[in-house]
Amino acid sequence: MRAACYTGAGAAATVISFEDLDAPAAGPGEVLIRVAAVGLNPVDVKIRAAGHDFGPIRYADRPGWDVAGTIVEVGTGVKGWAQGDDVFALARFPEAAHTLAELVAVPADDLAAAPRAWSAAQAGAAPLAALTAWQALDAAGIREDGAARVLVLGGAGGVGHLAVQLAAARGAHVLATAGAAKQALVAGWGADEVIDYRDDDALAAIGPVDAVIVTVSDTLPPRGAVAEGTAVITITGFSAAQEEELRGWGAEPVQRILVAADGAQLAGVAALADAGRITVHLDSEYGFDDLAAAEERVETGRVTGKVVVLVDSAG
Ligand SMILES: NC(=O)c1ccc[n+]([C@@H]2O[C@H](COP(=O)([O-])OP(=O)(O)OC[C@H]3O[C@@H](n4cnc5c(N)ncnc54)[C@H](OP(=O)(O)O)[C@@H]3O)[C@@H](O)[C@H]2O)c1
Repeated sequence: MRAACYTGAGAAATVISFEDLDAPAAGPGEVLIRVAAVGLNPVDVKIRAAGHDFGPIRYADRPGWDVAGTIVEVGTGVKGWAQGDDVFALARFPEAAHTLAELVAVPADDLAAAPRAWSAAQAGAAPLAALTAWQALDAAGIREDGAARVLVLGGAGGVGHLAVQLAAARGAHVLATAGAAKQALVAGWGADEVIDYRDDDALAAIGPVDAVIVTVSDTLPPRGAVAEGTAVITITGFSAAQEEELRGWGAEPVQRILVAADGAQLAGVAALADAGRITVHLDSEYGFDDLAAAEERVETGRVTGKVVVLVDSAG
């Protein structure tokens, strides 16, 4: 089978290559998937450029974590899945998963049935971003009671556009920041208020919220958004000084999360997709041969929604 690989650390156009490998087998507790589509995430390009682990996130010279495709083999001890099932997964994260290949073995615990309402490209694009948004909202204590005010910093990116939709689906009043050109899209995803992140006056006018989900680097929430007990969850991290400042404003908890593979939560994502309550906006789709160009698109930092690679363009 054909698989993407990195020949070393460095620029996408230089180090991305392809190799022919023996087909893997489904181990105990795993299924073998014929891969249709794989979403790309900033972590893929950061780890390729660096060529080493980031904390618990494993570097591998065979990339990819997101996947959508069709089960072709079921390993021993796996219940509830059969050949021919269309599935999607964030595989093994933060361990290496090698999903950018024609076939990949994935732990059954990481799988969910692909939403019928989504294309294979959308399903492949979603898992890491959707689970990050889901787990950030959980960490912020946002449940389905409809009472919360939630601010998403970075409402147009891969994680942000799903955080906006999932927060709205949990009944929250959603505020989101986005560039001027993307505001209409973000409103369409269910944000009640969209604030231009380059407009300091508009940012300063944001009042207290129950939770802030930070998806952009080096960005503190606007001072007015944080009151006593505002949960501030970052997926990009704060410096120690920023954390101290937030706690001084009354934020609690102030927490950085790292997404974890979770098939049960992904089934929750799929249920919302099939109910028509969330979608995946595709910034761009690339063929497998164009993986380097796809990674370069992610590297611009200007992505709207998700970038996806079609490994099997018939899928
Ligand atoms: N901790 C975890 O588990 C975890 C999981 C997933 C991602 N992450 C990290 O979280 C970050 C976001 O990931 P992602 O996949 O959502 O990224 P992404 O899709 O590449 O985000 C790009 C978007 O961010 C917007 N943006 C840039 N600066 C902004 C600002 N100051 N305010 C508001 N929007 C801004 C851009 O809009 P414009 O084009 O208008 O600027 C663009 O639409 C990355 O650093 C990633 O590595 C962490």
